[in-house]
Amino acid sequence: MALTSELGKQIKLKEVEGTLLQPATVDNWSQIQSFEAKPDDLLICTYPKAGTTWIQEIVDMIEQNGDVEKCQRAIIQHRHPFIEWARPPQPSETGFHHVAQAGLKLLSSSNPPASISQSAKIIDLLPPSFWENNCKFLYVARNAKDCMVSYYHFQRMNHMLPDPGTWEEYFETFINGKVVWGSWFDHVKGWWEMKDRHQILFLFYEDIKRDPKHEIRKVMQFMGKNVDETVLDKIVQETSFEKMKENPMTNRSTVSKSIMDQSISSFMRKGTVGDWKNHFTVAQNERFDEIYRKKMEGTAINFCMEL
Ligand code: A3P
Repeated sequence: MALTSELGKQIKLKEVEGTLLQPATVDNWSQIQSFEAKPDDLLICTYPKAGTTWIQEIVDMIEQNGDVEKCQRAIIQHRHPFIEWARPPQPSETGFHHVAQAGLKLLSSSNPPASISQSAKIIDLLPPSFWENNCKFLYVARNAKDCMVSYYHFQRMNHMLPDPGTWEEYFETFINGKVVWGSWFDHVKGWWEMKDRHQILFLFYEDIKRDPKHEIRKVMQFMGKNVDETVLDKIVQETSFEKMKENPMTNRSTVSKSIMDQSISSFMRKGTVGDWKNHFTVAQNERFDEIYRKKMEGTAINFCMEL
């Protein structure tokens, strides 16, 4: 239907304090900002495509003590609603419906852990009650090049986001931070600099990929949970890329094609470290490294670029 493909192209992003956001998120901004966090809320925070769904599933598996059936109770977007998640009314929906509001309701009525994702300049954009209540934050960072590649394919298939254009065009868009949730550099730097001043567990996608059991154990300890070794092994297995790609509760297969067209690109696309090498030209790589050096100067953060 013409409406479907046009939807994505018609998306005009809005800004909050210089960070591009989806229009429906900005329209609900004051409600999102007044969200009342509880002291035992755990917030999952990520830059888009850094492994949000992966860490969400890991956290739920820990919370449910490795009970696969319990983790099948709902799609991941409902088990960990994004508090900033909002979208325009859908053609099939009657009346005016904002998922942001639904997300807020879900959060306030559910037990922790709650999850928020993709907030840019943390102090400015996170609802203040999370800081006021000294909540725990789980941050997952993924190397910028793989994030860029993953985001590019995501924008191709997601009709709620602007069309990314060609890879060459998208390269410019991304390095200039002109994507939803803003600059990767600002996001990662912001959380990295805050990590020792608050209860923040800072994880890397690449580490979870390399040694999932070790990283999942860290998450478990951070959550104050204790699951035994066999359960931990089960969680590792159940949260592997292969399992999650087949799992309808995590692979977004329940999302309408008019929103995510997985015939263009799968939501669970590759799940690897180093796919950037299949996309970056030598010249783009050199330019990116130069920009990275400047933007990340003075930040002692080290990313693994291949396994
Ligand atoms: P790719 O596009 O590189 O495959 P998010 O959930 O933040 O949108 O991130 C999506 C990215 O995380 C996708 O990356 C997806 O394949 C990857 N991913 C999701 N689950 C994963 C898992 N269990 N193991 C490894 N990568 C996973």
